[in-house]
Amino acid sequence: MDIKLNKAGRISGEITVSADKSISHRALILASLASGESRIKNLLQAEDINSTLGCMTQLGADINKQDDILVVTGKGLNSFKEPETVLDCGNSGTTMRLLSGLLSGQNFFSVLCGDESLSRRPMSRVIEPLCLMGAQITGRADSRYSPLAIKGSSLKGITYKPAAASAQVKSALLLAGLKAEGVTSIIEEIPTRDHSERMLAAMGANLCADNGVIRLVPGRELTAQDFLVPGDISSSAFFMVLASIVPGSELLIRDVGINPTRDGILTALEMMGASLKIENQRIFGGEAVADILVRSADLKGITIEGKMIPRIIDELPVLAVAMAAAEGNSVVRNAEELRVKETDRIKAIVEELAGMGADIQEQADGFIIKGNRDGFKGGIVKSRGDHRIAMSLAIAAQISSGETTIKNAQAVNISFPEFWSILARVRGKNQ
Ligand code: S3P
Repeated sequence: MDIKLNKAGRISGEITVSADKSISHRALILASLASGESRIKNLLQAEDINSTLGCMTQLGADINKQDDILVVTGKGLNSFKEPETVLDCGNSGTTMRLLSGLLSGQNFFSVLCGDESLSRRPMSRVIEPLCLMGAQITGRADSRYSPLAIKGSSLKGITYKPAAASAQVKSALLLAGLKAEGVTSIIEEIPTRDHSERMLAAMGANLCADNGVIRLVPGRELTAQDFLVPGDISSSAFFMVLASIVPGSELLIRDVGINPTRDGILTALEMMGASLKIENQRIFGGEAVADILVRSADLKGITIEGKMIPRIIDELPVLAVAMAAAEGNSVVRNAEELRVKETDRIKAIVEELAGMGADIQEQADGFIIKGNRDGFKGGIVKSRGDHRIAMSLAIAAQISSGETTIKNAQAVNISFPEFWSILARVRGKNQ
C-alpha cells in the first residue's frame, strides 16, 4: 500500500495512542506461565502481538477474549505442549527472543521461525547464554540466525553480562531462569527496559534488581495478575515530534507509559527546547503513566549518546526528523544497535530522509544532521517494511514543501494500526 501525504497546518486535539508493545508481549507470555486466571486490559492489537498470541496458543495456552479483555488461564510453568508445527514469530524479535528462553527449559522440541527481516536479525545473543545454561538450541548459519530448533532440556542458573544492552536478552534469560536449577543473575552495564522484572516481581517471583544486577531465584509459581497496558511511549513519540515541529500546534496525548527506562524521548525533546507538559502522573498496572501536552516550539540541535541510547533506541528514527527540523547540528552516536533492528535503521533513516531533502550523514554508530526547518521537500520514499521507518517518514512529510509518497505504508500495522487515522484526525478536517 502506498500513502500520499502533504504538508500539515496546525496539529491539535486529544489522542490516546495504541497500547505498549513490550508490555503486551510480556503480559501474554507471563500470564500463560502463571497459575490461575489473568485478565489483560488494553492489550495491543497489532501484528507483532498477534505473533506472540499465535505462538502461545500453539503451545496450548488458554487465551480467550471477553469483550475488550483478554482472559488467560495459566496452568503453571510446566503446562505447555509440544507444538505440532513451527512457531511463526512473524516480524517480532521480542517474540522470538523471549520464547527461545521460555522453550529452552520445556521438555519438548520446538522450532521458531520468522519473516525475512527477522531471519536476518542476530540470535546468537540469546543462543549463547541460553546454551551456557544448558539449553540445546541450534540455528541457521552456525546458530547465528533463525529458524531456531530447540530441544528442551534441564537448565542451570548462570551469571551473565550481555555484550550489548538488550531487554530482550535479559528477559529471555529470566524466562529460562524460572525453570533452571540455581540462581540466574544478569549484570547490566547500562539499564534497559525493566517491564519483565516489574511484572515477574508483581506475580510473586523471587527477583530483585539492585545496582545493575538482576537476580532471579527459581522455585516459586507465578500467581495470576490483572494487567492494564498503558499507551506506548514509542508510538506517542511520533506525535510528540509532530506537534513540536508543526507551527501553532497543541496536542494532548493521554495515558502514555513513562517508565524511566523508556523515557529518553522526553529528555531528548526537552534538551532540544520542546514544550512538553507532563500532567496527571499516576501508576497504571505497576507502570508510571502520564498525559503529555505538546506545543510547537523552535527546536535546537543536540547530541545523544552513551547511557541515553537504550532509553531512546526505538525513538531515534523519529528523533532524526526533529533534529532535521531543528536549528543547528545534531549527532547520534553509540547507536550501532539500530543496524540490527527490523531493518538497518541507520541506513534506512539516513537514505530516506536525505531523499526528502534533509542534510543527514551516516556514521558507523549513528548519524550527523545539519538542521534546516525548511529542508524537507518530500518525494517518493520507502518504509523498507519497517513500521518505525514508515511512521518517521510520515512525520517528515508533514513539514515537507512538496508531496510525499510512502511505499509499503502498511508496515505500521506491526505496532500501531491506528497511526494513519490518528494522523488524519489531528491534522483536522480542512487539511
Ligand atoms: C524490546 C527491547 C528493545 C527494543 C524492542 C523491544 C523489548 O530491543 O528495541 O523494540 O520489548 O524487550 P533490545 O532488547 O534488543 O534492545
